[in-house]
Amino acid sequence: MSTTLLAIESSCDETAVAVLRDDKLLANVVSTQIEIHQKYGGVMPEIASRLHAENISIVLKEALEKSQVKLEEIDAFAVTRGPGLIGALHVGLQAAKTLAALYGKPLIPVHHLAAHIYANEYVKPLIFPCLAIVVSGGNTELVIMKNHLEFEIIGETKDDAVGECYDKVARVLGLPYPGGIPIDALSKKGQATYKLPRPLHDHSFDFSYSGLKTSIINMVHTAEQKGEKIVIEDLCRSFQETAIGMILDKSLRAVEHYQVKQVVLAGGVSANSYLRSQIVSRLEGGGVDVIIPPMWCCTDNAAMIAKLGMYLYREKVFAPLDVAVDPNWQIDHFREF
Ligand code: KG4
Repeated sequence: MSTTLLAIESSCDETAVAVLRDDKLLANVVSTQIEIHQKYGGVMPEIASRLHAENISIVLKEALEKSQVKLEEIDAFAVTRGPGLIGALHVGLQAAKTLAALYGKPLIPVHHLAAHIYANEYVKPLIFPCLAIVVSGGNTELVIMKNHLEFEIIGETKDDAVGECYDKVARVLGLPYPGGIPIDALSKKGQATYKLPRPLHDHSFDFSYSGLKTSIINMVHTAEQKGEKIVIEDLCRSFQETAIGMILDKSLRAVEHYQVKQVVLAGGVSANSYLRSQIVSRLEGGGVDVIIPPMWCCTDNAAMIAKLGMYLYREKVFAPLDVAVDPNWQIDHFREF
């Protein structure tokens, strides 16, 4: 018997609905708000919630039309419960609860970052032990999976997330939001000539990005005051090699330490060209499999919520209708709600 899930994602600035029947993705509709938030140089939470509320029914309707599936045929409704922006999460959860109540079907609460990891299964199956490099605007974590639905955080950022650092550095350089994209592009034209700090360059698997961010902000302001010119391409290259270098060094050490068989990238920063090329070349020939997610998996979408939702459905991880969102939900507590 086949299983059909409808999944909803609204944790940040993408409103998304997907329909998955077993392994077959029947629809994956994403409505992004990015152009609106660009005017403010970052995501405005209140505007994000309002736009989700305006868009959710339209996106739902389009996903149903594309999939040619009727709501009566859906076996369960999966939805992002966290982490993310509280008001934004509420919209998706409210929609999913309404559908689950109306059609008398289970509600599956899905962890957003775990779903980013499971997006890789649209490329090929996860194999274990697996190291997931989870890098986004809100999180920087190294996660070891010894099996399906087992997540152990072995290291995480002590302050800013790597994507947040990209966005703040971009802002001080006068580059548009989201900052990772222009910094990545400019760094290809530059040389790593600027010396930058590498915090937490130690034996832990933890990260720290606030010192790196502050040092660049100070460097730019000092140059402005002295009337000196910053070579933006070189600074972007120096920043990128430092910010991503920390992730690469710690990840490669984790691969050895945990005798990892597969490495996967997850989250918005996994779109980074330097991270993608370096993780492949540095692991080449070592017998470790690497999944580089396609670009559509790097940005937020509901296909990934459906993919993980399918595993949770089989394990009957269902939530009661009074479940609340959790903006700070930890990946290793994904069964607690
Ligand atoms: O996972 P995501 O879409 O959003 C949340 O964290 O909610 O990640 C967005 C982050 C932003 O900080 C953005 O600057 C970063 O991903 N990003 C990149 C690149 N593309 C997007 N960072 C580095 N290089 C990129 N090519």
